[in-house]
Amino acid sequence: MKKILFVTSEAHPLIKTGGLADVCGSLPKALAELSQDIKLIIPNYQALKTTEKIRFLCSLRVDNRNINILETRMPDSDVIVWLVDYPAYYNFPGNPYVDELGEPWLNNAERFALFCRIAVEAAMGRVHQDWKPDVVHCNDWQTGLVPALLSLEHNRPSTVFTIHNMAYQGLFPGRTAAVLNLPGKLWHPAGLEFHEMLSFIKGGLIYADYITTVSPTYALEIQTPEFGYGLEGLLEHRKESLGGIINGIDLEQWNPEDDRYIAQNYTAATIHKKRINKAELQKRFGLPIIDDTPLFGLIGRLVEQKGIDLILESLPEMVTMGLQFVLLGSGDKDFEKQLQKLADLYPDKIAITIGYDESLAHLIEAGADVFLMPSRFEPCGLNQMYSQRYGTIPIVRKTGGLADTVTDTLPETIANDTASGIVFNEASSGALLESIKRALILYSSAGTWKKIQTNAMKKDFSWQHSAELYLALYKNL
Ligand code: ADP
Ligand code: GLC
Repeated sequence: MKKILFVTSEAHPLIKTGGLADVCGSLPKALAELSQDIKLIIPNYQALKTTEKIRFLCSLRVDNRNINILETRMPDSDVIVWLVDYPAYYNFPGNPYVDELGEPWLNNAERFALFCRIAVEAAMGRVHQDWKPDVVHCNDWQTGLVPALLSLEHNRPSTVFTIHNMAYQGLFPGRTAAVLNLPGKLWHPAGLEFHEMLSFIKGGLIYADYITTVSPTYALEIQTPEFGYGLEGLLEHRKESLGGIINGIDLEQWNPEDDRYIAQNYTAATIHKKRINKAELQKRFGLPIIDDTPLFGLIGRLVEQKGIDLILESLPEMVTMGLQFVLLGSGDKDFEKQLQKLADLYPDKIAITIGYDESLAHLIEAGADVFLMPSRFEPCGLNQMYSQRYGTIPIVRKTGGLADTVTDTLPETIANDTASGIVFNEASSGALLESIKRALILYSSAGTWKKIQTNAMKKDFSWQHSAELYLALYKNL
């Protein structure tokens, strides 16, 4: 049995802004189910929610500050959670990265550096004397200083750093390194320095014993300039210690058979009932309730990464195709405005909800016929997997985890029962529109459509296999 300290800035259902939370909520549970001794450590944000009891564990004095560690557990699991309680940094409204107005916290470097220092204390057995982990598993830039600081400790545990998104690197002005009082030994171009800036992610990429990312295809992509953002050389250099492990999904949270957020539960055998969710979705979005009209959905952060510009370019032609489109998301204000404008122009065809709504996200997965995910890059992506599990056919661009989890519909994949979606290559509205037309042709042939839905629904997206791969990695270190 391995003792694992899992370090993350978000974990569902405690706190979530995106897929990182889904993964950091469900992977620790899957490892616990493999009988591993795992604890998760996370800042005690004001917005963090739990139904479980919280108790005081201990106080620490770190970096001239008094910090409390509180203990709770992940709802419905054996995973113990340590909350880093420092109200002066974390007890404010807003999300882990931005304030209520959507502006990044001005002291993000300080907030996450302190979090990393406390994770190092936990890693060295200084939070709980009887518990020193064998492995510390860090996630994304917010945890990048952990492997760096641990590299200076004697008798330290092994470290794994998982890249969920290379586009976010935690870059701060170079003088921040001094403000944070970081050890001078870490401050050089082969350390935390990146073109005279302080790079949190480099702490993970340079000092972790092993680097993983969330799909095999993305593991290759980030070694190229297009996806590596200047760190491709470093990643290539570390390629012997870099691998892709595809994310799983939480099969209990995302299960059309007993999803409590949807209007009607269903399985592959009762897929005809899916239309009740479609009607409910059309109603919720104020669209005409017509069963025959193919309904396209999209959920996501409204940022470049997700190909929202391609959607905006395609919508004027999409509305001529006899389809409906619903979108749930928030992010770039300009994208939000342009989407709203189109929705106002075509109220019977396009409806959008700007905001974050967990239950509506489930209803879209259940009620839409087609799910759009034309990402420019996608380290893994979870919605295309949720869609398949709900018999909602994803249209995805062939990149990162999308390429690894969706099988394009072709004569041969129809024949061998593997077709589970539609995959296109070029990041252009032309290519997206072509695949939408393909979807409409397939949709008009009820037998073929049902077959693709059934193939998609029976695919195995559980954590089982990937959690075993992480465990094998921990054992190898
Ligand atoms: P990313 O992490 O890049 O945002 P993923 O596909 O990995 O993309 O995961 C996104 C997760 O966040 C999914 O669980 C998705 O349902 C959820 N999500 C994104 N935007 C919203 C929103 N506006 N409302 C509810 N859930 C959302
Ligand atoms: C990131 C990526 C997304 C991935 C998620 C969980 O937010 O953008 O592709 O699914 O992390 O690993």
